[in-house]
Amino acid sequence: MKGIILAGGTGSRLYPITRVVSKQLLPVYDKPMIYFPLTTLMLSGIRDIQIITTKEHQQAFQTLLGNGHQWGINISWCVQDEPNGIAEAFILSEDFIGDDHCTLALGDNILFGNGLVGLLQSIMKPTLGATVFAYRVKDPENYGVVSFNNEGLGIDIEEKPKHPKSNYALIGLYCYDNNVVKIARDVKPTLNNEKHITDINNHYLKQGNLHVQSLGRGYAWLDAGTVESLHNASAFVRSVESRQGIKIACPEEIAWRMGYITDSDLNILAENLISSGYGHYLKEILLEDRKKYDIIN
Ligand code: TTP
Repeated sequence: MKGIILAGGTGSRLYPITRVVSKQLLPVYDKPMIYFPLTTLMLSGIRDIQIITTKEHQQAFQTLLGNGHQWGINISWCVQDEPNGIAEAFILSEDFIGDDHCTLALGDNILFGNGLVGLLQSIMKPTLGATVFAYRVKDPENYGVVSFNNEGLGIDIEEKPKHPKSNYALIGLYCYDNNVVKIARDVKPTLNNEKHITDINNHYLKQGNLHVQSLGRGYAWLDAGTVESLHNASAFVRSVESRQGIKIACPEEIAWRMGYITDSDLNILAENLISSGYGHYLKEILLEDRKKYDIIN
């Protein structure tokens, strides 16, 4: 299974903040936004990850994340010249995907909840078809809205409908078999030249192959695309972290707990971050049994 993070876009709803800085590099409380989708993929057991950015911001992302080897993963890089839609990711990453299945995570989506890791690992298997995730929201008209039957099979998807048929929004995490590359190629762009992910999902839905995993009350799904939602996401992370003394979406910790890096690797990473509480946190967890911990994201 390959992982893709789409971290381009214009971020226009955050102007002027995102005039010169990529949205996905903005801080969500104590870490850059991209750490959240990146750790979602890491926790799913995905270690080969391609990150798609704009040309303008790629260097800054590379300076932050490099090739991922420091965290026991492989990161490769790709540029999206124009924000031509989420579905374009599969065309841009065609060579990277090769014959594999792939999971796409949007760069501004944050997922958190007890049991999430087990759930993700059970889903991210190379099975035929697609799996998408649905989350109940009070304003479904602002999202891609999905209806599904008792077996969890999608029966209808609408993009930002005026009269939504359900309260379930599709979150920015999509898991597909290898057919997705061809399906993405065949998607007809809109007048704005955008290839919509909804068209890909509808393709699987028509084949009876769109599995919908709903995430219940115990989960948090946040996106951070507006000033208000970015602030709320930061406040959420701060409140969980300060109450529990744990970090959410800490790639160093997750790499260590997943067994991707050793104690001594983690110690070196901690030393380099020691002037902030972040480095101290990494030092502290080194004193724990790495397996004795069930809430790692
Ligand atoms: P959006 O929030 O839909 O778009 P945006 O990030 O450009 O923001 P705005 O609407 O405020 O202008 O994008 C969701 C995520 O997908 C976000 O992380 C950016 C990414 N994205 C791309 O990388 N390329 C694209 O073509 C699109 C549409 C989104």
